[in-house]
Order: sequence, then C-alpha cells, then structure tokens
Amino acid sequence: MQSFESLTEQFASFFNKRHFPAAPASLYDPNEYFLSLGGKRIRPVLCLMGNELFDKINEDAWHAATAIELFHNFTLIHDDIMDKAPLRRGMTTVHSKYGESTALLAGDVMLVTAYEHLNKMNATHLQTILHLFNETAKQVCEGQQYDMDFEKMETVGFADYLKMIELKTSVALAASLKTGAILGGAGERNQNLLYEFGRKLGIAFQIQDDYLDAFGDPKKFGKQMGGDILANKKTFLLIHAFETASASQLKELLDIAAGNSADKVERTIQLFKHCRSDGWALKLQNKYLDEALSHLDDIAVLSKRKEPLRELAHFLVKRDH
Ligand code: IPE
Ligand code: IPE
Ligand code: MG
Ligand code: MG
Ligand code: MG
Repeated sequence: MQSFESLTEQFASFFNKRHFPAAPASLYDPNEYFLSLGGKRIRPVLCLMGNELFDKINEDAWHAATAIELFHNFTLIHDDIMDKAPLRRGMTTVHSKYGESTALLAGDVMLVTAYEHLNKMNATHLQTILHLFNETAKQVCEGQQYDMDFEKMETVGFADYLKMIELKTSVALAASLKTGAILGGAGERNQNLLYEFGRKLGIAFQIQDDYLDAFGDPKKFGKQMGGDILANKKTFLLIHAFETASASQLKELLDIAAGNSADKVERTIQLFKHCRSDGWALKLQNKYLDEALSHLDDIAVLSKRKEPLRELAHFLVKRDH
C-alpha cells in the first residue's frame, strides 16, 4: 500500500502536462493556467487509493482519476464566478484574469474533456462509473444552488447546511473513492462502506474549508480571507453563532450581514470568537471523522491496508490550505 503523499506525487507526474490544444489560446490558456496552479489533488488520489485498497492500481483508475480532477477544476472555475472570488490557490481566479464569459466556456470544455478521459476506460465498468459520475455531478449542481439560495436567506438551520455541503462537496469525495473500489473489483458492501467513509470525511473536509475561510493563515490559505462572510454564505461558523448568540449579538450579526461595511469581515470574526464558533469546528470535525473511520473499519480487507486512508483522513481535517 502506498502513502497518499507518494500517490499524490505519482498523480502529479502523470497529470501535470498539457491537457488542451494550442488554439484558440484565448479559450485553452486559461485552463492550462488554472491547472498549473496545482491544488491538493485529493479526489484523484482518493480514486487511486480506493482502487489500491482492493487490487493493484490499474490503468482505468488513472483515467478515472484524471477525469475526476478535471471535473473538480471545472467546478472550481465556475464556483469562483458564483462566489465572486478574486483568488484561488494563491493566484488570480480564471474569471478575474480572463473575464466571466471565457471562464464559463473554459469550465465547460474542461468538463467535456473529463468525459473524454472516462471514455478511455474498459467497457467492463464504464456504464456503472459513468452513472455514478453523472449522479454525483448533478448532486454537486444541486448543492451549489442551495449554497447560493442560502446567501439570500437570513438564517439557515444546521440540518439544511449539512444537506448542502454533502451535495456540493462530500459526494464528490465519496464517489472518487467508490470509483476506485469498483475498478478494483470490490463487492457492493465494501463499495458502499467506502462511499460512506468518503461522505462523512467530506463533511469534515467542508467544515475545515469553512473554518479556514475565517480563521486560516492568509499566507497559506490561497483564497480571499473572509470571502464567505462577504458573500453572506451560510457556513457552520455562522450557523453556530446564530444558535448560541445572545439577543444583542444576534441583532449585531444580522445587521452586519445585511450591510456592506468596511469592517464586515473583522466584526463577524469577532462575533464568531465570542460565540466560540471556532472551537466548535474541532468537535464537529472529530464527530464526522470518527463516523468516517468506523465505516472504514467495517470494510472487509486487512486493517493494515487501510492505513494510508486513515492517514489521509486525519490530514484532510487538519490541513491549513
Ligand atoms: C475546494 O476543494 C472546494 C471545496 C469543495 C472545499 P479543494 O480544497 O480540494 O481545492 P484544491 O483542488 O486543493 O485547490
Ligand atoms: C465549493 O465550495 C464546492 C464546489 C466547488 C463544488 P466553496 O465555495 O466553499 O469552495 P471554495 O472555498 O471556494 O474553495
Ligand atoms: Mg467558493
Ligand atoms: Mg462556493
Ligand atoms: Mg469555501
């Protein structure tokens, strides 16, 4: 079994090449630019790890991993338009650099390219994986729409928040793992347990993403600090603050959110601290991490083989970027 660090390196050497034609440069350069910014490459590595849990990594897993990472980058290019984000991976976002129309089209062609890589797989599992990929892609769209709908709502309950992040983020991690497992010949029970592991892990992962938006180290984070606060995103930090704030703090939170004052981010973060919403992150993450790990435990393969996945799970919730 290989460590996630080693698989990340291997995936990088496989993936870090030109993916798009030269012309029109105005369409394809933005995609090459975005892919060159890197990223953690978590999802393709999850696919490879899901594969290796059951068998030697096979060629189809590399094709699927490539498709998965291209799909992820497509979602980020469009997400940055929707979130009006100026920065990603420490650099200018595609739409800020090349304009929104180009970013839309560049994302579209990246998605189509992802399907081309899926289509390189052997016929054996192609239908099953294509179906999983498409179901997941639809769920991501649904989650992204909830995420935007919630911007316009004053408050959102925790259950709705969970549903939203499950759709926009965690099913993609879960499906990446399951794709690898399918290609590794895993039985249905093991496939589903691995999916559940990824789903719970994905929730902890998005909780960390929300946490970093307000409390990350700007030098490492690579995105605009407080971007969620500026966009009135309903993060778990805000939801926890709503649920624990005093009447006067609640009024202040709502007033700040309704306006666009220059110190909006600062004041909201202060209130998060008063409500101890930052401390709640850790508790919440551990809950989902534990649930994830218990699904992993239930998978019927030697415990030793699961060690790299356990390590990756811990890394994902402790990450600083
Ligand atoms: C960012 O995903 C979008 C979320 C679902 C939180 P990553 O944090 O995996 O982004 P990169 O690919 O490493 O930049
Ligand atoms: C993005 O969630 C989820 C997808 C791209 C599908 P966020 O909007 O929280 O991700 P970041 O913070 O921009 O990376
Ligand atoms: Mg975003
Ligand atoms: Mg978003
Ligand atoms: Mg975020």
